[in-house]
Amino acid sequence: MTLYNGHGGNILQICAAYGLQPSEVIDFSANINPLGYPKGLTDALREELPIVRHYPDIDSSLLRKAIAQKTLHREEEVLIGSGSTEFIYLIPRALRPKKGLVFQPTYSDYAKALRLSGAVMDEIICREEEAFRCDLGHPLLRNGEFQLIFLCNPNNPTGVLLEREDIIHLAEGVKEGFIVVDEAFMDFVDITERHSILQEAGRRKNIILLRSLTKFFAFPGLRLGYMVAHPEVIERMEEFKEPWTVNTLAQRAGLVALGDEEHSRRTRDFLRSERMFLYNEFSKIRAVRPIPPSANFILSKILYSPTAQELQKHLIKKGIIIRDCSNFPGLEPQYFRVAVRTREENLRLVSSIKSALEELSVK
Ligand SMILES: Cc1ncc(COP(=O)(O)O)c(C=O)c1O
Repeated sequence: MTLYNGHGGNILQICAAYGLQPSEVIDFSANINPLGYPKGLTDALREELPIVRHYPDIDSSLLRKAIAQKTLHREEEVLIGSGSTEFIYLIPRALRPKKGLVFQPTYSDYAKALRLSGAVMDEIICREEEAFRCDLGHPLLRNGEFQLIFLCNPNNPTGVLLEREDIIHLAEGVKEGFIVVDEAFMDFVDITERHSILQEAGRRKNIILLRSLTKFFAFPGLRLGYMVAHPEVIERMEEFKEPWTVNTLAQRAGLVALGDEEHSRRTRDFLRSERMFLYNEFSKIRAVRPIPPSANFILSKILYSPTAQELQKHLIKKGIIIRDCSNFPGLEPQYFRVAVRTREENLRLVSSIKSALEELSVK
């Protein structure tokens, strides 16, 4: 079986295939906040449960208002969705670009969504030799031939951060086209001012911002995300959006999450030190070269052998799931990605990788 189907986090399928219980494995393949979801979530969902006998609020009105307030945008500039995934597919469907562009290696759904919408898809490879930095001034971008460009900031799986100024410059050059900036992991980043286009989205017509609440607030099973864009773009999206995609429980979860500043602060404090701890531990393993992280995951390369797939298979038997990144265009079969988890889990990961590499006979 494929262990990823284009994504990490297939813990239930993997457990079924290997005869394991989910409680026996640690999932490093999905980049979810290791501190879990906000404290008040369980009670709030229990309280909300009787309401599921009604259709959900089709506009997620309360949550839309709360997000508009929090992000300093008008409600007409905000749209709530069933995870940022809903928007990744909705945008090309609604804007019908003839030609789209993605910078690889990156999150696989941008290319898939462009293809499904019937667009011709082009790729620019961000190269290992250039530390996977994306060249937003690439010659391909000079002819204005793309109507839709996807950017991932910070980028999954490399963790590379784009500069806000470079994105604005690109948007100014691509007059007829739209730039979608997926900031699914921006909440984990320490200092966002230099990188996030949260303030520009909504004001500039051709910048569309996507944010996810599923990773930072650790409820991917509930599905929740939002878009910030110019009101005319939001209106167009609403025309193409299916009704009731955001269920009642997810809407309530969003309100709980936004209200819990303490959880957000604790998460950022924790990850700031823990990602550096894990990065430093990986750096000490001679056969592994990690890429400096910016969010809550680390991409690493095994020098020479085994492949990431071999390492992944070996670790599953020890109850550890990592993301084999060999299916990302531009990455060699030796690349794997792990989420930063708790200290105890990270220590177990490091020692398991060390012994796995020894057992798979790497010098
Ligand atoms: C870069 C990126 N964007 C979007 C998503 C989808 O997130 P959501 O759960 O908000 O649909 C993912 C999921 O892994 C991701 O890695």
